Amino acid sequence: MFTSIILAAGMGTRMKSEMPKVIHKVCGKELVRWVIDASLEAGADEAVAVIGHKADMVRPLIEDSARIAVQAEQLGTGHAVMQAGEYIRSANGCIVVLNGDIPLIKAETIKKAVEYHTALGNSATVITAELEDASGYGRIVRGSEGEVLRIVEQKDASEEEKKIREINSGMYVFDSDALAGALEKLAPNNAQGEYYLTDTLEILRGEGKRIGGYAIEDNDEIRGINNRVQLSEAEAIMQKRINERHMLSGVTIINPSSVFIGAEVEIGTDTVIASNVTLAGNTKIGSGCTVEMGCRIEDSVIGDNVSVLNSVILGSEIGEGTSVGPFAYVRPGCAVGRNVKIGDFVEIKNVRIDDGTKISHLTYLGDADIGRNVNFGCGTVTCNYDGKDKFRSVIGDNVFVGCNTNLVSPVNVGDGAYIAAGSTITDDIPDKNLAIARARQVNKNDWKGNKYNA
Ligand code: UD1
Ligand code: CA
Repeated sequence: MFTSIILAAGMGTRMKSEMPKVIHKVCGKELVRWVIDASLEAGADEAVAVIGHKADMVRPLIEDSARIAVQAEQLGTGHAVMQAGEYIRSANGCIVVLNGDIPLIKAETIKKAVEYHTALGNSATVITAELEDASGYGRIVRGSEGEVLRIVEQKDASEEEKKIREINSGMYVFDSDALAGALEKLAPNNAQGEYYLTDTLEILRGEGKRIGGYAIEDNDEIRGINNRVQLSEAEAIMQKRINERHMLSGVTIINPSSVFIGAEVEIGTDTVIASNVTLAGNTKIGSGCTVEMGCRIEDSVIGDNVSVLNSVILGSEIGEGTSVGPFAYVRPGCAVGRNVKIGDFVEIKNVRIDDGTKISHLTYLGDADIGRNVNFGCGTVTCNYDGKDKFRSVIGDNVFVGCNTNLVSPVNVGDGAYIAAGSTITDDIPDKNLAIARARQVNKNDWKGNKYNA
């Protein structure tokens, strides 16, 4: 239906950053990706990103979703669009030009602008907004009948033109042939010596073609990001949008302004999210879960009816009905079954844990396969590292692990085995065996070492 061209070659000096502006993130997603995705969601057949400043940093982050055109030297917005020339010539339909630093633009708005443009048979339509303070923006100069005549940049504007409050958002819809023709006629004769994309409108009008303005309803959508204050403002607006989307689809969020949910996160109905929670990356949360205060869950899949309190879960899967925390740390590579208990001050890493197992307190389990209905006493430790290599242990079903047990990996604990408290297990334990691996207790009679016994 249309091709989108996203201008993202500028450097964004005011970010004061080693990174190009467009790869700074809002709600966990790069600015330029928000724009690319909005255009694809609006129905673009193809998105073309024009990159330049530190292109090597930008390219790998977007090349899965956009074609890349490179603008080696930034000679203006018109020049940037010229770099996507081959895509403009091969496009069937219109071209939507967007700015890579305006992440709040909605798919719906792009779609409406394209419909408006098409319905009026325009050659070019600029997306405009009314602002209280229009300074810095290009102004929309309209004629006596309200028709768009041209866009004048702040630096080139007369005193009279500077009073205009209708501004150019930097986003446009063009007929592809009209745009290709107008770009050939662009010249850098203006205050900044740049090729202005905005000049194409006047060129087209001079050829007797229809140009128009599509006024946006929500000014937040055209907020450009130039510094980190604006970045945080965009973050807050996007965060609100994301949280409201989840709330409207059945998720309770108790204190939304303290809840950060990444763009890609999915959450099931009747899940309740309390304060100070971050859900990031590629995370899926099931239905009926409670994510209590102070959790960070990243790149993880959480089943239905799971409860998590004050815990960190990274790169792992947690099965239905399991509870995690308070103060648990689930590190990457864990696959936890159903109705498992990962209690307080428990750290697990790269372990498989089968259904019904309980790890209630103060325990570290790393690199292990653990069966079902195992009970870990307080203070169990897998000694999985000998200073040089990591080893994996296997613990069968229905095992009872006494408090303060060390499992020196690699070690196999058979089904139904029972480990006496305080054991340091270095040898495999056969099924249904009791293992005791600790020094026998000695009692010395009438001990004077205690000052109270003198
Ligand atoms: C541009 C518009 C202005 C509009 C404003 C909205 C022109 C001449 N002016 O001004 O009317 O109100 O956007 O924000 O178009 N870019 C490149 N290569 C370049 C120059 C820019 O890729 O050579 C990219 C930038 O990275 C940015 C976008 O184009 O994403 C806009 O460029 P910027 O320099 O911010 O344009 P403005 O001067 O703000
Ligand atoms: Ca700008």
